[in-house]
Amino acid sequence: MSAVFITGTGTGVGKTFVAAGLIRYFRALGQPVAALKPLVSGFDLAAPSGSDPAVLLEALGREVTPEELNRISPWRFRAPLSPDMAARAENKAIDFQAVVDLAHTAIAGTDGALLIEGIGGIMVPLDARHTVLDLMIALNQPLILVAGSYLGTLSHVLSAQEVILRRTLDLRAIVVSETEGAPVPLDATLATLANFAKAPLLGLGRRVPARQTDAVFQHLAKLIA
Ligand SMILES: Nc1ncnc2c1ncn2[C@@H]1O[C@H](COP(=O)(O)OP(=O)(O)O)[C@@H](O)[C@H]1O
Ligand SMILES: [Mg+2]
Repeated sequence: MSAVFITGTGTGVGKTFVAAGLIRYFRALGQPVAALKPLVSGFDLAAPSGSDPAVLLEALGREVTPEELNRISPWRFRAPLSPDMAARAENKAIDFQAVVDLAHTAIAGTDGALLIEGIGGIMVPLDARHTVLDLMIALNQPLILVAGSYLGTLSHVLSAQEVILRRTLDLRAIVVSETEGAPVPLDATLATLANFAKAPLLGLGRRVPARQTDAVFQHLAKLIA
């Protein structure tokens, strides 16, 4: 298989959790897998553990070294803000075309699965003219849309789906990853979303048996194959 872009309805919804789960799934099967999280904000080189690139590197079984961090996340910013704001806080600007070129090079150079994690939601600004949506359009790879199960997620998922499909992107799956402490049961959210979803819909519960989570990643891997 080739690349898949893992996007989300927002930040903290489960994109990295899904990417890391897929990485472990492919590795358990002995299949080649690589990951790219080109842009990361809220990153502190003095304390990388727990950051998205560190979580992805650990799932890949690689050391969290400055070289590996450079490779998996070349654009790292200190402030926990949108990429455009985090870059501006360091008197920098993100070169959108350079991000596109780097991702294209990674896609062309991967023999196996390449999981590309976006940043924030689908329309987070990267610079003054581009959002994550523009990056997804430029790369034109299959997408996984990850969402939480918090109250309010229905409109966020359906708005994101609408935008993605209007731009004729290849939406392979919508994953609802259970939000900690959400007042709405995951199954109820999935039941309502099923009426409107235009891509296969998967639920990832918390505190569920490992075999249940494994089955979701197995299904997801088939959808992106
Ligand atoms: N289904 C889940 N089960 C357990 N923990 C989860 C699940 N989904 C997300 N998380 C946890 O929630 C937090 C936020 O998820 P994360 O994947 O980092 O979000 P994002 O990448 O979209 O910002 C992380 O600590 C992650 O491990
Ligand atoms: Mg993440």
